[in-house]
Amino acid sequence: MAGGLALSLAAGAGLVWAAGGGLAPPAVDPKVVHAPLVVPDRIVLTPTTDPATSQSVSWRTSAAVTTPKVQLTLAGTGVAKPSSTVDATSTTFTADLGYDVRQHSATLTGLQPGTTYLYRVGDGETWSEWLEFETARTGNAPFSFIVQGDAQNDIKSYVSRTFRAAYEARPYAKAVLHAGDLIDTDDSDAEWGEWFGAAGWSNGSMNVIAAAGNHEYYPGPELAEHWGAQFEYPRNGPETTSRIAQLYSENVYYTDYQGVRFIALNSNFPGDPEAFAAQTAWLEEALKNNPSKWTVVTFHHPVFSVSSGRNNAAIRDAWLPLFEKYDVDLVAQGHDHAYGRGNLVANESGLPAGASADRSNKGPVYMVSVAGPKYYVIDPVGDNNWTQNGAHLRTSLANTQLYQLVDVTDGEMHVESWNVSGQMVDAFTIAKGADGTKLVTTDTTPRASGPGSTRGGIGRPGLPEPAVPGEKPTEPETPTKVVPVVRATTSQQRYGTTAPVRVSATIAPVAGAVPPGTVTFRTGSRVLATGVRVTDGTAALTLPRDLAVGSYAITAQFVPTGTGFETGTSTATTVRVVKASSTVTISGLPAKVKAKARRTLAIRVAVPGIAAPAATVTVRVDGRVVATRTVTGTVSIKLPKLRPGKHKVTVDYAGTANVAASRVVKKVVSRR
Ligand SMILES: [Fe+2]
Repeated sequence: MAGGLALSLAAGAGLVWAAGGGLAPPAVDPKVVHAPLVVPDRIVLTPTTDPATSQSVSWRTSAAVTTPKVQLTLAGTGVAKPSSTVDATSTTFTADLGYDVRQHSATLTGLQPGTTYLYRVGDGETWSEWLEFETARTGNAPFSFIVQGDAQNDIKSYVSRTFRAAYEARPYAKAVLHAGDLIDTDDSDAEWGEWFGAAGWSNGSMNVIAAAGNHEYYPGPELAEHWGAQFEYPRNGPETTSRIAQLYSENVYYTDYQGVRFIALNSNFPGDPEAFAAQTAWLEEALKNNPSKWTVVTFHHPVFSVSSGRNNAAIRDAWLPLFEKYDVDLVAQGHDHAYGRGNLVANESGLPAGASADRSNKGPVYMVSVAGPKYYVIDPVGDNNWTQNGAHLRTSLANTQLYQLVDVTDGEMHVESWNVSGQMVDAFTIAKGADGTKLVTTDTTPRASGPGSTRGGIGRPGLPEPAVPGEKPTEPETPTKVVPVVRATTSQQRYGTTAPVRVSATIAPVAGAVPPGTVTFRTGSRVLATGVRVTDGTAALTLPRDLAVGSYAITAQFVPTGTGFETGTSTATTVRVVKASSTVTISGLPAKVKAKARRTLAIRVAVPGIAAPAATVTVRVDGRVVATRTVTGTVSIKLPKLRPGKHKVTVDYAGTANVAASRVVKKVVSRR
């Protein structure tokens, strides 16, 4: 079959929908399409252990290239004059398509932190184009990175779309994570060719941080010969024995980049007790001795599965306790060919004031995603591998090509999951205070941009364009601080209301124009909405109808997108959320009844705007309790026989934290 779409029924493997196979339609012999030349291709940046002063780069040529080298210079605006030339080392092997390939790698050292360099790779005669990279700044500094799940199938046809959409959104991202199964067949040179082709030159401008999936070992038994040859990763993995060192060489590693420790694990060996124990012990050391503020771990087989019938218990048993103990921020995984995001239920209690478990949690975020066009059936939200193991699957999604954008700023790691058609499908912000206190909050509004959206990054002052071409730029002016004014339509909201309070932030014009930027609304440390667009000088937020009872001091922060302005936060306006009222009514009980008959009381609870939440209803006759039930909306209760005489029937709805109690009383005369 030549790569067309095919529908496979869900039976057995649970595959629902997949593109045709491993490769795009081979109109031309793959040997011709993918054969190497002396012209460099498959250029890829990979991080070192010190990305502020060094950078690794790898590329491919034919075996005819014997003097591989990298040239380097500071980025300028005119013709590049190489300031240094570094020799590379090579690995040669015969690819499955029959030709010999030579892979080259070099590590550039002695670089300046936070500096943009130009580089090119070649053999002294035949060169690549000049490409760019920026070294890491020292310490914590804002940056963006991208996350990609399994690419694996029909990479050229489909995955190119995912890679490009992510690149369009954050072209100045500093890294892209791949959570395994980059390809389908370990040694297929054509599939690796499609993978590099899909990423294009972006692989040569941002660090690729890849983890090995099961398909990098398929059909195996060894790791794809391409892996070690084409990715130059830090050799800081487990080394308890020479076998272990070799097994994990360049596929279990970590690097620290501007305040984030990235750890890549290899989840393929729970069946090899010695190797698995060595990696788990290494992981604990990498988490314990972590100088970075943030931690992101990536590997293939997820601790909680989204897809039906899957359960990686050994991975979960060994690694989950470490992720929790060391409070890893983000765990990025693949393998399930679906999307899922959540956390341990235990991390939803003891939240700070103003945060509710329906949107917030502490502890690590576990995420599974997929970049490619193969999909599996997912389990229902309420009953799955997450819920069966103490976790809360907050968001899940099937049959969608996705990528994640992650923006790291001083106090936040903001993650957005997007589909390839430009819709955000999930988002959350991990806010971390200087004292390490952390809160993860679901977001509903996409951010307009992140540090990796523009060359200079967010809020980094730059020189203004010269007024006359060629004129020397002047020093930047002191940025103007923009402080919004925040107002609420009213200071009180009733829980469940159909007319929720609207909060608006007004941005005053500066020199006749409203400064460009967005607004973030917060209450305390909780983000209510972020990236809110400013229209005619106003950004507005409608409070959620189901905001829990309490008092909310709401502030608006202006986040400028251009230079010349500085972020500012308004004073707070307070909105109090009060309980919804409830009404309990009864029917089936006339004013006069026969003493012999038992009447059935129909009880109905109504709450304006919402369905009445489950709560206790207590029925009393003359003050004595005759029935207690937990009721959602309506219930029928049979009364006892009423002795002849006058009686008082009382029905109480107890209400909840968000809904007020209510009562109805009915007088009845019972006759013989
Ligand atoms: Fe997989």
